[in-house]
Amino acid sequence: MCGAHPSRALDSITLNAGGLVLLFVAVIVCDIHMNTSKKTRGSEALSIDFSDNGGFETEAPLVATSLTHDDEGEGSLRPKALTEYIGQEKAKGNLSIFIQAAKMRGEPLDHVLLHGPPGLGKTTLSGIIANEMGVNIRITSGPAIEKPGDLAALLTNLQENDILFVDEIHRLNRSVEEILYPAMEDYAIDIIIGKGPSANSIRLDLPKFTLIGATTRAGQLSAPLRDRFGVTLRLELYTPEELALIVTRSAGILEVPIEEKGALEIARRSRGTPRIANRMLRRVRDFAQVTAGGVVTRSVADRALQALEIDELGLDNVDRRMMESIIVNYGGGPVGLDTLAATINEESVTLEDVYEPYLMQLGFLTRTPRGRCVTQKAYQHLGLATPGRSEPLEQLSF
Ligand code: ADE
Repeated sequence: MCGAHPSRALDSITLNAGGLVLLFVAVIVCDIHMNTSKKTRGSEALSIDFSDNGGFETEAPLVATSLTHDDEGEGSLRPKALTEYIGQEKAKGNLSIFIQAAKMRGEPLDHVLLHGPPGLGKTTLSGIIANEMGVNIRITSGPAIEKPGDLAALLTNLQENDILFVDEIHRLNRSVEEILYPAMEDYAIDIIIGKGPSANSIRLDLPKFTLIGATTRAGQLSAPLRDRFGVTLRLELYTPEELALIVTRSAGILEVPIEEKGALEIARRSRGTPRIANRMLRRVRDFAQVTAGGVVTRSVADRALQALEIDELGLDNVDRRMMESIIVNYGGGPVGLDTLAATINEESVTLEDVYEPYLMQLGFLTRTPRGRCVTQKAYQHLGLATPGRSEPLEQLSF
């Protein structure tokens, strides 16, 4: 049976949700390979080749149903409701309206694109959206969806109004991305069964769902994909005051005694990023426990972060090497990103996504069409003489 050619009668089959699941079980059992080689942008369709068994096995789990993260125990610190979520006031305010409106209409939320630097809470916010909508969330990532068949299997297993969260959505490959277009627009996927003159196309209706795409690089999304998101939210770096509230909340959950100034010290050195703040809190807690009777004070935080080579603005070794290299090797810039990355032996994407946003927010670095430049403030922070001066300027205090 698995090698059998599909009958032309499939042409006229209208499948409901149950039928869809059955069809996909059959598809998987029969080891069908989904091949998109004949696709064009206009007719997004899956061509199913019955000849081999590629396509469905992935080593890493393709999808998860709960929020997890590499950072030890971050899950327990994640807020579950919009009211618990600190900061991102603009995004939160808009989302709250869109969620209420969708619930009043009994419809799924429109597709949402979340973008911004890493660690700002895109995954957390998606979990909150699912909770607030009262629906399931399925979590996957662009690189995990290797083939159109992977995505088709995910989509057909969703229930009505579910959320599919795709992290790093800019890393979806083109053939997979094209399956998303009709799925997002019409809640359907088109499948071509067979090859040549006997090939048939069937349209599978999907349950209505919400796609939440998260990316650190919105600019790398193709225009057709970007245009299909009804809601686009940019997450911004957090202020030290917001981060201090997050640290205090996390300390409460972890049952770590913390002073207000201790929380603010961690917050000031967390580069605007809750994930970093929560990670620092755990390390400072270790120092507090071993050296200071367990209470996180300003001076314990300061000592711990100095020991971790994180300076008073939260800059680490890589930030300093980046700026020093621009100054020492390239006269303060401009220097191209790839050249700079090669000079200090780091990945260009890491510099661009992880390090530059904060250095630019501090006003230490600028991106120009000819490359990266450091500013006078960077010279001052590093205690180096600015060009044309023999003495370093006095360090700025923030
Ligand atoms: N933990 C991580 N991010 C958070 C946020 N924005 N609000 C509250 N707790 C958090």
